[in-house]
Amino acid sequence: MKILVTGGAGFIGSHLILRLLDKGHDIICVDNMNPYYDPKLKETRLRLFNNKVKFYQVNIANKEELEKIFQENKIDKICHLAAQAGVRYSLENPFVYGESNLVGIINLLEFARQYRIKHIVLASSSSVYGLNKKIPFNEDHRVDTPISIYSASKRAGELLAHAYSHLFNIDITCLRPFTVYGPYGRPDMALFKFTKNILEGKPIDVYNNGDMERDFTYVTDIVDGFVRALNKPMGFAIFNLGAGNPVKLMDFIRTIEEYLGKKAIINFMPMQPGDVKTTFADISKAQELLGYQPKVNVKEGVKNFVDWYLSEVHHAN
Ligand SMILES: NC(=O)c1ccc[n+]([C@@H]2O[C@H](COP(=O)([O-])OP(=O)(O)OC[C@H]3O[C@@H](n4cnc5c(N)ncnc54)[C@H](O)[C@@H]3O)[C@@H](O)[C@H]2O)c1
Repeated sequence: MKILVTGGAGFIGSHLILRLLDKGHDIICVDNMNPYYDPKLKETRLRLFNNKVKFYQVNIANKEELEKIFQENKIDKICHLAAQAGVRYSLENPFVYGESNLVGIINLLEFARQYRIKHIVLASSSSVYGLNKKIPFNEDHRVDTPISIYSASKRAGELLAHAYSHLFNIDITCLRPFTVYGPYGRPDMALFKFTKNILEGKPIDVYNNGDMERDFTYVTDIVDGFVRALNKPMGFAIFNLGAGNPVKLMDFIRTIEEYLGKKAIINFMPMQPGDVKTTFADISKAQELLGYQPKVNVKEGVKNFVDWYLSEVHHAN
């Protein structure tokens, strides 16, 4: 199949492309390589593809440039991961979320319709659960209380996808990943920041005085969920992709310390606006309908990240 992967220079997108290449698919990758975090990491990820991918440096909010990709390639399916990520940054710079996560997704859905794409798999986010207090988070729960511009924009993407799926008979699968981590991970996320600061002897900021839990999900498990969704069009559908096993933030930090052989200097901070105390995925729907089964636990996953960080980031500096 010829698959368009948006956000393919990103953390999850690049892992997904490597898996799809392995399976023999033809990949077209679009990414605007924006500097939200160091684009050198995005370039490093692109190099992992060994020139086997057709790459377009295009902003999906740019209609004309995006349409060219559809004109030049006969695309079978789309995996849409390009988005402005980050909960906290969305309070500082909401406009870029409007551009990438609202205008960008409308452009993509509209060209999918015009160029008769039959199936799209979209990255949504666990953050759509917002103020939801019922755990574990289930796809049937109401998700109309987002608490950040980011989560509101991701929920809007799901709603737009529903409208396009209904109106134009496109199979669209929305996946809600839960706190994804692993090698080549994002420098703005906790695992990367904690590892970097611990190694450099700098304090780490720990929010809500450490009283938080996250359903940390290893990147190859997330990729597995994407590939399964890609192989199973089913009208419009939404799935959680989590580990289904929340881990206390302080235990997560202890695991990082263990693999680094070094203690963290902890700067306890209050809860941050936009953040939630607990995330916990009910993954039974994905297990039942997609055969999804997360395999990598936090100990193994953190070790893989730390090994990567030490060999490719820390020693390179
Ligand atoms: N990492 C997580 O924990 C997590 C959790 C839930 C949902 N998600 C979602 O998964 C997707 C991938 O996340 P990630 O962690 O790999 O983030 P990432 O920032 O590493 O990847 C996103 C990529 O999209 C690109 N991009 C952003 N705006 C673009 C635009 N307008 N045009 C073209 N390219 C653009 C960026 O340059 C980046 O390479 C995102 O949609 C994100 O919202 C991630």
